[in-house]
Amino acid sequence: MSKYSKNPPPKKKSTSSKKATAKKATASSKVTKKSTTRKKPAAKKSTTKLATKKTVSKKTAVKPASKSTAKKTVAKKVAPKKVVKKKKSVGKSEEAGPLEKYLQAGEISIKVKELLRKKVKVGASVLELCEAGEAKIVELGGKWAFPLNVSINNIAAHYSAPPNDDLVIKKGDIVKIDCGVHMDGYVADTAFTVSFGSDHGDLIKASEEATKATIDMIRPGIFTDRLGEEIESIIRSYGFRPIRDLTGHQLDQHLLHGPITIPNISGTKGFKLEEGQAFAIETFATSGTGSIHPDEGRCFIFHLVPFQIGLRLDASRKARKVILAKYQDFPFTTRWIANEISIPTAKVAIRDLSIKGQIKRYPALCDVKGSFVSQSEHTVYLTGNSRVVTTIPNQ
Ligand code: CO
Repeated sequence: MSKYSKNPPPKKKSTSSKKATAKKATASSKVTKKSTTRKKPAAKKSTTKLATKKTVSKKTAVKPASKSTAKKTVAKKVAPKKVVKKKKSVGKSEEAGPLEKYLQAGEISIKVKELLRKKVKVGASVLELCEAGEAKIVELGGKWAFPLNVSINNIAAHYSAPPNDDLVIKKGDIVKIDCGVHMDGYVADTAFTVSFGSDHGDLIKASEEATKATIDMIRPGIFTDRLGEEIESIIRSYGFRPIRDLTGHQLDQHLLHGPITIPNISGTKGFKLEEGQAFAIETFATSGTGSIHPDEGRCFIFHLVPFQIGLRLDASRKARKVILAKYQDFPFTTRWIANEISIPTAKVAIRDLSIKGQIKRYPALCDVKGSFVSQSEHTVYLTGNSRVVTTIPNQ
């Protein structure tokens, strides 16, 4: 699942300045002072920062706070705190633990993708695909890191079937399937694209090659701007545009969207990557504008915010009980809540929780009408001088 930033960094450099930038990055990595300042990701304004388990459970008690104040506090306080924690937890003795969990989650995701590659075809129900993928995760002993995304044509990301969805895959569609599994909070985040009947071969190849190139380059010590440059250069070489406001993202225990992002474009501020960090590398190629907008009418994915206030509606209280018990750490979908408290109750509750700022919304993200988007995503864990790809067999 991708990280969406409404305020992407300005595009300053063209791909032709690639070599110069690469040299700059290498040079600055040798200067100790510079590299130290660069590797610390600044806390962004974006509200995409997700809650940690501990924060949520502590703040569950009724706390009257205005919506905007609560949100701002979260974005500013939670994110940097997480970075500090991360550094402490990546001691060498503990390193085997997280990697093992990342690999277990990855193994499950590989099997889920295998199943869905067989099931996705013209006439297939999107609801059935979502349910089949999610059921397979549970069957294999994993947990859901986010609702299965099935995003079609100009929808780049974040479409998961709502309850009773009657959407089916049609001839000519290009379909992105994005799957998230976690084991003890360690996430495998991986996506692939298939098309039916129309020739989107190059569009699919563009994002696949960009992701593959990033996987080949990524290692401790590399700067993220270098990766973004390569991604943009490859996608443009196929005659398409990268989606600039979607990025790859750092993963951490119980954290789907960590502070470091991997841009899909050149000209961004670079951050130095370190051993023990995990990332979802996800690239998007589009025949459209390269910029996406949220479709608020199709918002089916949400995430609990850390600061909870008192609720009057019975439906909302019921829904929050389910969310707190099962989906505190990661995004959930209307469907999951509806399965526990009925569809009408879930709809009422989610509308109310959303209005009150108690859940963050992840609406479907679209490029312009008539455009087509492809996505390719894998999860990597940085170790030694290399990386382990958890979502590809034998990597
Ligand atoms: Co992702």
